[in-house]
Amino acid sequence: MADILTSYEPATGKVLWSGESASSTGVDAAMAKARKAFPAWASTSLDHRIERLRAFQAKVRERADAFAELIARETGKPLWDAKGEVDAVAAKVDISIQAHDQRTGTRTQEADGLRQALRHRPHGVLGVLGPYNFPAHLPNGQIVPALLAGNVVVFKPSELTPASAAFMAACWRDSGLPNGVLSVVQGDGRIGKALAGHADLDGLLFTGSATTGAALHRQFADAPHKVLALEMGGNNPLIWWDGDDLEAAAQVVVQSAFLSSGQRCTCARRLILPEHLARSAIEALVAVIDRLIVGDPFDQPQPFMGPVIDMRAANGLTHAFRDLVGRGGKSIRELAAQRPGLPFLSPALIDVTDVADPSDEERFGPLLQLVRVPDFDAALAAANATRFGLSAGLVGGDEALYQRFWTGVRAGVVNWNRPMTGASSNAPFGGVGASGNHRPAAYYAADACAYPVASLEALAPSPPIAHGLAA
Ligand code: NAD
Ligand code: SIN
Repeated sequence: MADILTSYEPATGKVLWSGESASSTGVDAAMAKARKAFPAWASTSLDHRIERLRAFQAKVRERADAFAELIARETGKPLWDAKGEVDAVAAKVDISIQAHDQRTGTRTQEADGLRQALRHRPHGVLGVLGPYNFPAHLPNGQIVPALLAGNVVVFKPSELTPASAAFMAACWRDSGLPNGVLSVVQGDGRIGKALAGHADLDGLLFTGSATTGAALHRQFADAPHKVLALEMGGNNPLIWWDGDDLEAAAQVVVQSAFLSSGQRCTCARRLILPEHLARSAIEALVAVIDRLIVGDPFDQPQPFMGPVIDMRAANGLTHAFRDLVGRGGKSIRELAAQRPGLPFLSPALIDVTDVADPSDEERFGPLLQLVRVPDFDAALAAANATRFGLSAGLVGGDEALYQRFWTGVRAGVVNWNRPMTGASSNAPFGGVGASGNHRPAAYYAADACAYPVASLEALAPSPPIAHGLAA
């Protein structure tokens, strides 16, 4: 009998969606369907594939309200945040068409009867594994470029957000995508593992935690010929150095740390402050934190943030917070459970300067750890004291200090006086260290979806052998 997969609304605890989880034979079936669909899809013209992408985009826009409502219910994020996600899904089509041309387009040069050509070919059947925090936008950011390049896709969404994925797949189906070009297999990590390990898979585009990414890297150890793109998390540092407008700076910090209840991979996890600023900065920061509205996705006025995804995540974060307190961390704003049995948490700030060994883990929620340092060298050292390298930010300083920061800090997204969250789909997106494997997504997602073929071409055999041929 098939396992039943159920998703719950974090804000209410009610069942939102229930359906059958795929089994390994379900993965086999989806793979077989995809393999069969690949030759026809790969041989359609680029214009034809663009037409299908635009039909999908139109369908998403037509259903935008229902889509955003569903994402808000399934993730708990406020409706305004979910609407932003749906906008990003639709916008991805135009961005991907441009990126496809610029990153993997066809280039030819002709001179003296010789043509030199650079063209790209799709890999074949690609797997896409998605996370729960952006259940539509992030997998879509891999699916759209993959299909555009002529690949077919088997998509396994997060087991925590199956409904959002099913809605997005229905938009593709109803916009006329041929059968088998995109299949969804629902299920948990075991199904992800079965898909990743499938012998007929040509590559995998993964977005999720560093732990899962590392497991996939090991799983792919005997398959170096398969493309593997890993977009993972971070323990992201934000240095707040100086500045006259403390309230504006505090708002940048809050947007960096607590947007989507801290459930964005780019969120600031560690705030680094110089001793001379610490007192006034903390005061300004706490003033903004205390004004943040935590509430239901559909509350009016809209909250800044909703619950985290489930009680497991909430309990893990609470445990991490208590552990830091137990090891000498000074709670400035407690990570407090707000409603019994539901994963609403208040935004937390804790000074961990005196914690001897604050572990280098990503705390995927509204928990900001603060470290006080004596000078900018110490700030940079603290920023880089992580195995990750996804995003980093500087608030305050001047051009010269920013240049020092930009050069010294190790991350794939480096911002100045802007929130670390809200990464642009028009730019490459990926991290170094344990945050990725140098296959950035967003604008550079095209790179992982096709391989280059370089050709020298002439209408007749040429040139003759110039040297070393006996008469
Ligand atoms: P996760 O790693 O738990 O799960 C991601 C996906 O992998 C899910 O579909 C899951 O079912 C699947 N999976 C889990 N174990 C697997 C295994 N052993 N083999 C194959 N598949 C497996 O991540 P999550 O908790 O859903 O998402 C949050 C994480 O994602 C955070 O760490 C966050 O930083 C990261 N993230 C990264 C980016 C980025 O672009 N760098 C963006 C968003 C989220
Ligand atoms: C994410 O992908 O989790 C975050 C993107 C962003 O908002 O920067």
